[in-house]
Amino acid sequence: MSDAQRGKTFYLETFGCQMNVLDSQLVEGQLRARGWEQLRDHQDAEIILFNTCSVRQHAEDKVLSRLGQLKHVKRRRPDLIVGVIGCMAEREKDDLFVKAPVVDLLCGPGELNRLPTLLDEALERQGNVTALAGSLSRRTEVLERALEYDSLEALDLSRAPADDEPVLQSYIRVQRGCDKFCTYCVVPFTRGAERSRPPGHIVHEAEMLAARGCREITLLGQTVNSYVHQEEGDPVPFAKLLERVHEVEGIDRIRFVTSFPADWDEDIFRVMRDYPKLCPYLHIPAQSGSDAVLQRMRRPYTATSYLKLMETARKYIPDIALAGDFIVGFCGETDAEFAETVKLVREVEYKQIFVFKYSTRPGTAAERRQADDIPQSVKAQRNQELLQVQMDIMQRQKQLLVGQSVEVLVEGYSKYAKRAQKQTAEDAAKLMPSEQERGADVAKQSGSDSGTGANDPTRQLTGRTPHDVITVFNADEDLIGSIARVKVVDASPLTLFGELESITSTRRPARAAAAVTDEGTSLPILS
Ligand code: 5AD
Ligand code: SF4
Repeated sequence: MSDAQRGKTFYLETFGCQMNVLDSQLVEGQLRARGWEQLRDHQDAEIILFNTCSVRQHAEDKVLSRLGQLKHVKRRRPDLIVGVIGCMAEREKDDLFVKAPVVDLLCGPGELNRLPTLLDEALERQGNVTALAGSLSRRTEVLERALEYDSLEALDLSRAPADDEPVLQSYIRVQRGCDKFCTYCVVPFTRGAERSRPPGHIVHEAEMLAARGCREITLLGQTVNSYVHQEEGDPVPFAKLLERVHEVEGIDRIRFVTSFPADWDEDIFRVMRDYPKLCPYLHIPAQSGSDAVLQRMRRPYTATSYLKLMETARKYIPDIALAGDFIVGFCGETDAEFAETVKLVREVEYKQIFVFKYSTRPGTAAERRQADDIPQSVKAQRNQELLQVQMDIMQRQKQLLVGQSVEVLVEGYSKYAKRAQKQTAEDAAKLMPSEQERGADVAKQSGSDSGTGANDPTRQLTGRTPHDVITVFNADEDLIGSIARVKVVDASPLTLFGELESITSTRRPARAAAAVTDEGTSLPILS
């Protein structure tokens, strides 16, 4: 290692989806393993990395604006290395060096295994460096692709969470890329072809995470239900993968996102019904309730077949929580077509929906062949309307839970508690030491709220039910990482407010993590 590469400090900021969050964790692990220090603030970092998202223009604009802010930092510190990794690097390619001259390095999401070498190059010669799949696709050799795939697998398998990194709830990638080519979507261009990871590797990661104290796993894929891996000539479909992950000791909850409504395999519902660790939660985007729009989006199902699938889901798992994504203002969407989406949302009664205003993506089929002809004001108004419809549904659903008892995996302090703690710390800093001591004495003598803490905002914890409903309640910090029963006393459309009833199972301490991780790196790649 040259002097330029030794003991660097880096800062990494993540934009976008869960897949990006996971990619960032892998990159951070890789850089920490070389002895580099991760900083929480970009001001002093020698390397600044942005892991980016291209799914909508708005996401890219945010990154461009952050890069713009770095101009003056770079002027002050010309040695600073700025890297753009992830989907925006892959989509923009060298153009990004022109749009944002502060950038020194580009690395696509399918090339992250090459990032350390790339950073070394950047540090050595202070010039622009790139690793993008575009260059690889021109090479036709099968072997080269296989080797590249192997080292990407190695990156996932080398995952080593930092000692202070919370792993209670973790992501595991089961699939890379996407082959669906919905006409509006940039993902197949940035993340490449769909490939399912070997089940043995996925189970191994789950075991490693469980050994570190992880209790909830979310399996990630763009179309996770189309997962299939050939194992010694036999296909392992997604339902089988779920059964195998279910066997991992220490994991209490399993979720998966995102599901694709076409080609659904009923075995998945069977596993969800019969295996207790599988959460009754399904994120399955419809995108639109209009058959004509679905066709223009190249989504291979109809509103009727989608509704039928949701009905089947409820037949197997009556209390299933359904979540979905919708795009409003897609090319040519008429008022009548939008009304069909509203109707579908009312009918399904989702637990939650995510609504997006259509944003043209360069290089997609929609950009080439369909006009982005819905005015921004109409998109905004449809967005509001759909959200309001869903808000009313959520209000009703949550009220039904008041008085019931729910099971919660306790994640940590709520945002409200963190704000209150900060405020309390600031107030305490303003007091003279003697006043602080007297305050503590008074509280002790009077046995006031600081004893029971029933209404103390600094003690509010947050967790999620198996249905992914956020629940807040007051309890001791020790409860973080436990599974507890909470009585619901109040509800807002997004949150349940409760009181602790009992502890179902206490936090799992981490077991010998290092041994498991070492084993991971020696696993054969590509089974
Ligand atoms: N414009 C708006 N929303 C989009 N999505 C994907 N591509 C676009 C686009 N071009 C939405 C879809 C997808 C979610 C992750 O983002 O609803 O499910
Ligand atoms: Fe994009 Fe469609 Fe693939 Fe989802 S299924 S990532 S929307 S192309």
